[in-house]
Amino acid sequence: MDASGRAVLVTGGAGYIGSHAAKALRRAGFSVVVYDNLAAGHRAAAKYGDFVQGDITDVGAVRDALRTHDIFAVMHFAALLDVGESVREPARYYRNNVTGALAVLEAMAAESVKLFIFSSTCATYGEPIETPITESHPQNPINSYGETKLAVERALPHFERAYSIKSIALRYFNAAGADPDGEIGEDHSPEIHLIPRAIDAAMGGPGLLVFGDDYPTPDGTCLRDYVHVTDLADAHVRALDALADTGRSGAYNLGTGHPHSVREVIEAVARVTGREVPWSLAPRRPGDPAVLYAAPVKAHAELHWTPRFGELGAIVGTAWNWHRTHPQGYREE
Ligand SMILES: NC(=O)c1ccc[n+]([C@@H]2O[C@H](COP(=O)([O-])OP(=O)(O)OC[C@H]3O[C@@H](n4cnc5c(N)ncnc54)[C@H](O)[C@@H]3O)[C@@H](O)[C@H]2O)c1
Repeated sequence: MDASGRAVLVTGGAGYIGSHAAKALRRAGFSVVVYDNLAAGHRAAAKYGDFVQGDITDVGAVRDALRTHDIFAVMHFAALLDVGESVREPARYYRNNVTGALAVLEAMAAESVKLFIFSSTCATYGEPIETPITESHPQNPINSYGETKLAVERALPHFERAYSIKSIALRYFNAAGADPDGEIGEDHSPEIHLIPRAIDAAMGGPGLLVFGDDYPTPDGTCLRDYVHVTDLADAHVRALDALADTGRSGAYNLGTGHPHSVREVIEAVARVTGREVPWSLAPRRPGDPAVLYAAPVKAHAELHWTPRFGELGAIVGTAWNWHRTHPQGYREE
């Protein structure tokens, strides 16, 4: 597909993964409009195109943005994503993640925008019955965060049938790392992800908690599939290209297929930073499966996507570069 002159609306584009996708889209020749309410995002992260401050639940405002900028596709990242919080506050999660996504789709239907790339998650699978996880693994979420993402996935065929909106759901495993050029990175508050928390502990922040070391895994800690955020961004551009070219809706797992334990991550952070990573043991968290990793075969075959940053050391290295140079995240910019 010829990207030139085509504009993509990136909801949540001031956030972690959305900002990296905006950069990848710009590189591929698209023009970018970031749409974000800045509830969790950063204005300084939205630097690869126009910026519209607005809420996804506001159908009228989304329609205005689609119309004003002559949008041809939407990448929908905007969501709340803290699993624990989603269990305590399901109303907020359903409103933001389900009502919000449906409002974006409704606005697209009204403005005849026909291509939708959706940020989904491995949390839609719930407790795995087998690993690696393929796209046909049953989807039985065990928390309201996963349920909200699955609810949107389930709405997509209906919006395709009624309004011809073609869509691809990308089910990410654990997004990690930062822009290799050091321009953007991860800045969540509070930070809930392992690699930035381990880096923070190495930099003298509060020590890290490891939730359980008696799982049925080689070193007793949980195994997860860490996928570099720039590789995720690249997969989004490929998914959009494929969707525009073939018109075939679908879902893809995005992971490396090579899981790492919490202890391996801590060791990698210690190695890369050259510092100690203080940590202490805490009880298991309910709902944390022992092992989660992707079979990324379908994304390889159909999107021709292969992670460039497959090695844990490379992922941690880019994250360390970002946090070392931005110890206060975007706040100092
Ligand atoms: N980070 C991960 O490991 C991971 C894994 C699987 C899936 N995901 C999904 O990827 C997407 C992006 O995650 P992230 O880590 O970049 O999160 P993030 O919090 O950094 O980014 C989300 C962005 O959406 C914006 N936003 C939230 N609600 C909004 C609303 N109502 N209106 C407008 N903007 C709103 C926030 O301000 C923020 O900039 C989410 O949909 C998340 O569920 C993330």
